[in-house]
Amino acid sequence: MTIGISVYDPNQTTIGQKQFDCGHTAINAFVHSSLKPQVKRNLSVAYVLSDFAKEDRFVGFYTIAQHMVDFGQLSGSMLGSMPRKIPCTRLIMLGIDKQYQGQKLGSRLMRHALSISQQVAQEIGSFGLYLDADPTALNFYKKLGFTQLEIDRPTLPSPMFLCIERIF
Ligand SMILES: CC(C)(COP(=O)(O)OP(=O)(O)OC[C@H]1O[C@@H](n2cnc3c(N)ncnc32)[C@H](O)[C@@H]1OP(=O)(O)O)[C@@H](O)C(=O)NCCC(=O)NCCS
Repeated sequence: MTIGISVYDPNQTTIGQKQFDCGHTAINAFVHSSLKPQVKRNLSVAYVLSDFAKEDRFVGFYTIAQHMVDFGQLSGSMLGSMPRKIPCTRLIMLGIDKQYQGQKLGSRLMRHALSISQQVAQEIGSFGLYLDADPTALNFYKKLGFTQLEIDRPTLPSPMFLCIERIF
């Protein structure tokens, strides 16, 4: 399969971006309308999967940015002496077009995001990778080593975390 990962360029037209359909209404709407302006304003960086055999068609993506998580959210096993606000990286959005799901491309993007998170941690300090998981994707993230954060009341989506030191 001729699919590669590259950083998203908001100044270029990407074939298939407007037709992107991962089966999740909010994520589809984000890709169609908000991805370009958000990246242009440096609110996140996006990495995209492109199908080189189909004119570099937009196949999947994730967005990532800096974040702070309250130390009370992290489970006891993660804590020693910690500041109240803990710096981390946040995976904001992730999606794979329905035509390409089930081919380990989501896992491939996540491995890329974990690698970026490790690099960031070496440059500016970051305790781990945070994300808000859709209930339907909880097991997908658990397989990658993420654990659900402790929260007062159950919320949807579910906050999840993976410490940098637990990324292999
Ligand atoms: C979730 C998503 C990114 C997974 O991408 P994908 O390329 O289909 O996933 P992969 O092929 O890499 O799957 C890896 C493993 O996770 C499992 N998996 C995939 N999607 C899953 C889901 N939604 N729930 C539970 N497990 C899932 C696969 O069965 C596979 O398991 P295996 O290693 O035992 O074979 C994709 O289904 C998607 O875009 N869904 C809609 C948008 C969405 O939910 N985004 C996440 C919001 S937080």
